[in-house]
Amino acid sequence: MSIIDKLKIKPMEWVEKEEGPRFRWLDTRLIPWEEVYRETTDYRRVATAIKDMEIRGAPAIGIAAAYGLALAAFYSDTNDVNELFNVLEEAKKVLAATRPTAYNLFWALDRVMRKAREYMSRGVDSVIRAVVEEAKRIHEEDVRQNMEMGRIGSKLIEDGDTVLTHCNTGALATGGYGTALGVIRASVEEGKNIKVIATETRPLLQGARLTVWELVKEGIDATLITDNMVGYVMYKNLVNKVLVGADRITLDGYVANKIGTYMIAVLSSRHRVPFYVVAPSSTFDLSLEGDNIPIEERSPDEVRSILGKITITVPGVKAVNPAFDITPPSLITSIVTERGIITPPYRENIKRVLSQN
Ligand code: MRU
Repeated sequence: MSIIDKLKIKPMEWVEKEEGPRFRWLDTRLIPWEEVYRETTDYRRVATAIKDMEIRGAPAIGIAAAYGLALAAFYSDTNDVNELFNVLEEAKKVLAATRPTAYNLFWALDRVMRKAREYMSRGVDSVIRAVVEEAKRIHEEDVRQNMEMGRIGSKLIEDGDTVLTHCNTGALATGGYGTALGVIRASVEEGKNIKVIATETRPLLQGARLTVWELVKEGIDATLITDNMVGYVMYKNLVNKVLVGADRITLDGYVANKIGTYMIAVLSSRHRVPFYVVAPSSTFDLSLEGDNIPIEERSPDEVRSILGKITITVPGVKAVNPAFDITPPSLITSIVTERGIITPPYRENIKRVLSQN
C-alpha cells in the first residue's frame, strides 16, 4: 500500500485502468457542498482544472501539473522521441500559463522535464515510463515532506494552544496531508489539545469552505471568523500562534501567500503573536529576492460577488483582486520546512537549511 492509498482525504490520484491511466481529482470548488471527483486523460483539462481552481494550493498545483505532463507523454501517440518532446514542451507551456504565483508549479514542471531529458536517448517508451514515475514520486514526496513538516512544526505547538490559520493549507492544498494544517494535524495526532481559528478568506472562501471542512471531518475544534475579525481576536488574546502556508518564498525570506496574510502578519507583530510559515523546499524560489514575486490578478467579479452566485455591490463598480500578498521577513518568526526550522537571518539560514539532506 503506498502512502497515497493511506490518506484520509485524497485530493488527487493517478489511476491505472486497462484502457490506460487517468488523472483523478476532487473538485474543490464544490466543497463543502458536494464531494465530486473528476477524471481525464487530457493534460489540457488538467490545465483548466488548475486555472479554474478545481485544484488549488501551491503544492497541489505542482503535483497536478506533473501528472498533466505524465498524461501528455502517455497519450502523445508517437514513436518519435523528438515529437514526444515537442508534445511535452507544448504541454509544459499550457500548464505553466495557468497560475503565476505558486512556485511549486514551475518547480514540478522543470523537474519532470529534466527527468524526461535524462531518458531521451533510451527512446519513447522509457521517457514515458520515466515521466509517469517522476510525477508519482513528486506526489509521494510531497505527502512525506508534509508529514515531516508536521513532526518538526508540532514542536512549536503547545497543548492548549489556539492557532489561527488563513486560507486552506491542508490535504486539499497539497498531495493529501497539508503544510500549516499538516502541523495542526500532527499536533492533534500527538495528543495535544488544539483549537483552530480559521479565517474565511475572501473572495473565494478557502478558509470557510475547505479548512473548516477538513477540520470538522477530523474532529478538530474549529471556529470560523471573517477576515476583518483578526485584529479583534488578537486584541482579546484569543490566539497564541499563527500558522500559514506559502505560494513562493524568496532567498531572503519574502513570502507570497493568500491575500490577507500580510495583514495578519502585521497584527501578529503588533500583538506579539508568533507568526510561522510552513512550506516544503519546493516552494522556495532561490532565483528571486525581495518582494519581486509575480502576483496573480484575478477577475474583479470574484470581489463583486459571493462565489459568482450573489452580486454584493453596484454592478460594474471598480474592484481589484490580487490573489496573493507578500509578507516581509521582518514579520516572520520562523519558517518550517521538511529540512528543519529556518529562523532569521533568513538570507543566510534559508540556504544553509535547504542544503541539508
Ligand atoms: O489561491 P489558492 O487557493 O491556490 O491559494 C492557496 C494559498 O494561498 C495557500 O496558503 C498556499 O498555496 C499554501 S498551501 C499549502
